[in-house]
Order: sequence, then C-alpha cells, then structure tokens
Amino acid sequence: MAQNKIMVLHGPNLNLLGEREPGIYGRLSLSRIDRMLKEEGLALGVAVDCHQSNGEGELVDHIQGARRRYQGILINPAALTHYSYSLRDALVAVELPVIEVHLSNIFAREQFRHHSVISPVAEGIICGLGPESYRLGLQALVKILEVSKRD
Ligand code: DQA
Repeated sequence: MAQNKIMVLHGPNLNLLGEREPGIYGRLSLSRIDRMLKEEGLALGVAVDCHQSNGEGELVDHIQGARRRYQGILINPAALTHYSYSLRDALVAVELPVIEVHLSNIFAREQFRHHSVISPVAEGIICGLGPESYRLGLQALVKILEVSKRD
C-alpha cells in the first residue's frame, strides 16, 4: 500500500522562529521543527513535506497543489488564522483533512487572536504547547487517516 503523505504549512513570519519573540514562540528554529516533524513522520510511517511562506497567495498555491498528492494538511496559518478567507476556501476546496496548530495559546493572548477563520474547516486545533502542538497535530492527522482507511 502506498505511504500516506502529509503536507506541513507554516504561515507568515514563522521563518523567524527562534529569534522572534522567544518568550512567546520559544527558541527552536523552524528548520528544527521541520526536522522533528520529518522524524516523527518516519516513526509514524508517513512522509512529511514542509513549506513556509510569508505570502498568502503562495500558501494558497501550496494548498491547491496538495490535492491528489497529499492525504492531509497540518497548518500553522500564523496571523492569517485570524482573517484569511482565501486560505480557508483553499482548504475546503482540496477536501483533505486539516489540523490547525499554533505554538502559543491564542486564547490567552490579544483579543484579535481569539478568533480563527480556519478552525471551522479543520478537523481539530491544537495550540499553546510550543513545538509539541505540531507533533501532536501530526499524530492526530495520522490517526484520522488510519480510521478513514478502516471505514
Ligand atoms: C501563531 C499565533 C498567531 O496569532 C500569530 O500571528 C503567529 C503564530 C502561533 O503559532 O502561536 O504568527 O500562529
């Protein structure tokens, strides 16, 4: 049976992880998080590809490209979480299971971060656990794929 493939997407400014507001986002760089996810993928038996972009359009292009090539999407939409209808529409369009993750607890921060336009179209959301949010998100996505294969 072909191996499942998961696309990991990181939104704007996440390329600065490690340097950007370390008190909130931690000291781990994005490449370390990507490496951790690839290793976790290996242990879980899925292939993991990671992309980061500061551009909304480029992220939409990645999502559209995931159709038929990937079985699920793990996304930290960063600030786009709070207002990007184009990202939300793209995620709906590709009809893949989506898990939304955030390093910080968006509900314990400024009011504008409490609302996500992405959550209603995601299978689930994990936030506030630093890089562990990503790892748990990947595990959840793999579980969802296993269950949907059985059904
Ligand atoms: C974030 C939370 C967002 O509100 C913020 O704009 C980010 C990162 C997080 O991972 O905690 O850039 O998605």
